[in-house]
Amino acid sequence: MTAAFPAPAWLVGCGNMAGAMVEGWRAGGVDFAGVTVIRPSGTPVDGIRTVTEYPEEQPRFVMLGFKPQKLGEIAPGLAPHVGSETIIVSMLAGVTAATLRKRFPEARAIVRILPNLPVAQVQGVTPIYSADGGIDDLVEVQQLIASLGMIAWCETETELGVIGAVASAGVAYVARFAEALGRAAEALGVNPTRARSIAIQTLVGTGDLAKATGESMEEIARRVASPKGTTEQGLAVLDAPDGLQQLVDRTIAAAVRRGQQLAEEAARRD
Ligand SMILES: NC(=O)c1ccc[n+]([C@@H]2O[C@H](COP(=O)([O-])OP(=O)(O)OC[C@H]3O[C@@H](n4cnc5c(N)ncnc54)[C@H](OP(=O)(O)O)[C@@H]3O)[C@@H](O)[C@H]2O)c1
Repeated sequence: MTAAFPAPAWLVGCGNMAGAMVEGWRAGGVDFAGVTVIRPSGTPVDGIRTVTEYPEEQPRFVMLGFKPQKLGEIAPGLAPHVGSETIIVSMLAGVTAATLRKRFPEARAIVRILPNLPVAQVQGVTPIYSADGGIDDLVEVQQLIASLGMIAWCETETELGVIGAVASAGVAYVARFAEALGRAAEALGVNPTRARSIAIQTLVGTGDLAKATGESMEEIARRVASPKGTTEQGLAVLDAPDGLQQLVDRTIAAAVRRGQQLAEEAARRD
């Protein structure tokens, strides 16, 4: 069954991330008939009514797709349109459900998500959190988000932030690693364009292999690395003390810390 928007549905802001979600929904054949994009530039979104002012209707679904820092500016104008039938879905990194509840006190439910860019290819990972459980319409919203790939319901907002740092920000980290592989090939004389394609295909192939076989990444690495062979020598560098795991731990910790800072800043602006 194709997922559907509770209509009328408003997408408030449709930049990088909300745009990627729209692409994923479009790929899945979702109907945009009851959907409106509201954005100050009015830049059209293919196949969706796009306007610069809030329409005269009470939305059942409002997705917040602008930058967290814009909440204070946008919420006062938006809140009067948010009633007891409206579910707010926020992708604002670091802005807590309590802060959103203060901004939209009448909302039927507040749902937080932290999607990642591969939602555009219906390959996303999206953690979801809501303190307003037991509401029937949430099933519809869950199906809509789940139609973009994998979802992970979170018990706490801390868990949401951690999964967001790993999966959402993680796309950038995995991209950096693939870029580094390509650069290493380039430094050893491979043509730059070819080096980049090889790095990307290695990334995609490893992901597909893990998905198709169900093997863990550890097992895959073991299968590649024959004893005393070339891969084993390389893995010894990555696995050294203060190697890759420690670097990734520091990377994720920095992103989680920033999420906490954003939450504190948003709460202070309240
Ligand atoms: N990028 C990611 O991977 C990622 C992952 C998880 C969560 N997020 C969250 O997604 C949100 C958006 O990030 P982004 O990277 O997509 O930002 P972006 O590309 O800069 O898009 C921001 C959008 O907000 C709109 N906007 C600005 N002022 C507005 C207003 N007054 N009313 C309505 N819309 C307004 C902009 O409209 P115009 O287009 O008309 O200028 C634009 O469409 C952020 O809260 C971020 O935390 C992003």
